[in-house]
Amino acid sequence: MTQIKKKNSSSFGILIHGGTKIKKVGKNSEIDEIKKSLRSSISVGFDLLKKGKSSVDSVEASVAVMEDGGVFNAGTGSCLTIDKKVEMDASIMNGKDVSAGSVGMVQGVQNPIKLARQVMERTDHVMMVSGGALKFAKLLDMYIEQNEPNQKLINKFNILIKTAKNKWGKNSDLLAKSLDNPYPDQDHGTVGAVAIDREGNVSAGVSTGGRWLKMHGRIGDSAVIGGGFYADNRSGAACATGKGEFIMRRCLCKFACDQMQFTNASVSSKKSITLLTKQFGKNTGGLITVDTKGNFGIAYNTNQMPIALIDSKNEKIKIAMEYPKLI
Ligand code: GLY
Repeated sequence: MTQIKKKNSSSFGILIHGGTKIKKVGKNSEIDEIKKSLRSSISVGFDLLKKGKSSVDSVEASVAVMEDGGVFNAGTGSCLTIDKKVEMDASIMNGKDVSAGSVGMVQGVQNPIKLARQVMERTDHVMMVSGGALKFAKLLDMYIEQNEPNQKLINKFNILIKTAKNKWGKNSDLLAKSLDNPYPDQDHGTVGAVAIDREGNVSAGVSTGGRWLKMHGRIGDSAVIGGGFYADNRSGAACATGKGEFIMRRCLCKFACDQMQFTNASVSSKKSITLLTKQFGKNTGGLITVDTKGNFGIAYNTNQMPIALIDSKNEKIKIAMEYPKLI
């Protein structure tokens, strides 16, 4: 097996995001909650890097904290399908040997990102979904009884389904018989992390509940290699958030990584989001990247994308609701 490894990276670090926001978050309490969750997530991931752990360990741990926090659309905060159920997607990729694992339509698992890592490391497969993923989770004792969605999520579901303008055009036509009202698209609270470790290995990890009121069985970019995530020591690592259908159609994270062979993380992320915007319009997504020199990139075409960043150059956590206020 060929392993591409970059020795003696000049710096190591991690960049995480909490999903794109179409409307700016107005409430200070909500902003505080988001920043607090980002801070605890990135602290865990960076501590591992400092201890010499791999970038895979770092992104897995950081994403798991965001899944547990209930603040973002992932893990316990996952959005609901049109059938009022949770169906989560997650993925992880190691740039050292381009190994990858992803899970789709997962229910009853506390940390889908951890299950994705098990797919990567303990099976011969890359993607496992639905009943097969659950069977696998049970085998590893990672299955918990699925709780009913909490009241906050039910309340949001009830608002969305009654009041907003339909943006799931084809689904709406298809489901018209079972829906009294059209329903909307919403912010994309998918979480993600990219990291580079002391050895110069890059990784990406992503987790999401998908999109509000999606149809049962829909899987988005967060489980699709090259779409919502990619990592390769030849170029860099990327993970995306936004409208998964568009992100998959552009193979956005593979595109971003390919760009990083010729340019840096910042230019690559901007080029990728420009491509997405030109083809599918504004409010369609965001992307974070790290290249193999340890540079980070952030780009999005919505109003906000909460971000946290820390690297070994100054070991100071930077958090912002909007880039470029971050750096
Ligand atoms: N980007 C998350 C999703 O569309 O599922």
